[in-house]
Amino acid sequence: MALVSMKSILHHAQTEHYGVGAFNLLNMEAVKGAIAAAEELNSPIILQLAEVQLPHTPMHLMFPMMLQAAREASVPVAVHYDHGITFEAIMQSLKYGVGSVMYDGAALPFDENVQLSAEIVRIAHAMGADVEAELGVVGGTEAGGHEDINECLTDPAQAHEFVKRTGCDFLAVAIGNAHGPYVKKPDLQMDRLKQINEAVQVPLVLHGGSGISDDDFKTCIKHGITKINVATSLQERVLATIDASNYVNFTQKMEMAVFEDVAKHMKIFGSIGRGRI
Ligand code: 13P
Repeated sequence: MALVSMKSILHHAQTEHYGVGAFNLLNMEAVKGAIAAAEELNSPIILQLAEVQLPHTPMHLMFPMMLQAAREASVPVAVHYDHGITFEAIMQSLKYGVGSVMYDGAALPFDENVQLSAEIVRIAHAMGADVEAELGVVGGTEAGGHEDINECLTDPAQAHEFVKRTGCDFLAVAIGNAHGPYVKKPDLQMDRLKQINEAVQVPLVLHGGSGISDDDFKTCIKHGITKINVATSLQERVLATIDASNYVNFTQKMEMAVFEDVAKHMKIFGSIGRGRI
C-alpha cells in the first residue's frame, strides 16, 4: 500500500468507524518500530513531526526518512506535519513532500484563526496537500511539558462556521484533552464532541492521546474522532525500557518500545486488520 494521503486513511476510518494513530516520531528507531507495528498488525498509520520538535529533530532529515519508510511499507502510511506554527516551516514541510500539514492558529482570536488557516488551506490545496486546523485550545504543550490544562473548548456552532470558512480537511478539537502527561484524570466532554461531529462533515482529530482511557478512546471514535495523536506515551515507554550500557541493545530496545506502544494503541483504536483502504 505504501505512501498514501492522510485524507484517504481518515475518510476510510470515518466511513468504517475506527481510529488511526498519528505518532510523533523523533528518530530512525521510532520510525522503524512504528512501521513494524503497523505491518505486523496490518494497520494504517500516520507518522508525524511537530514544529516544536524541529530544533532537535530537523525536518530535512526526518521527512525524507519517513517518506522512504512509508514507500517501502506494506500497509497505508501517511506522513504529516504536526502543529505548524510559522508560515515558513509549513511551506518547507510541503517542499519536502508531506501529504498534509496542520496549521495551529488555535490561540488566535477566531477571525484571525479563520483567516490564517484559510490562507494555508489555499496554498496547500494548490500543492495537492491537505490541512488540519484547530479550533479551541488543547491544554498542555506538545513539547511534552507538564503545564496545567489551560483550555478553551471547541464550540460546535463555531466549528461549523470555521470549517466552512477555512475549507480545512480535518478539524482538531478541544474537549478537555491536553498534550503531555495529564496533571489530573482527563474529563472529556463527549456531548460536546457529539455536537461538533453533527455540525461538521470533516474527520475530527484528538490531540493529547497519552493517558486517555481505553473506554474514552472508544467513545471518542464513536463520536467522530478518526485521527488520534500520541507522543508522550511513546517517549515514556522508551525511557522505561532502554538500557544505556550497550549501544546496539539500546537502539533495539528503543525500536521495540515504540513497536509495543504503537501496537497497544492500534488495538484500542480498532485499526488492526484495516491495511487495505
Ligand atoms: P501527547 O504527547 O499527549 O500524546 O499528545 C501528542 C499530540 O497531540 C501531538 O500533536
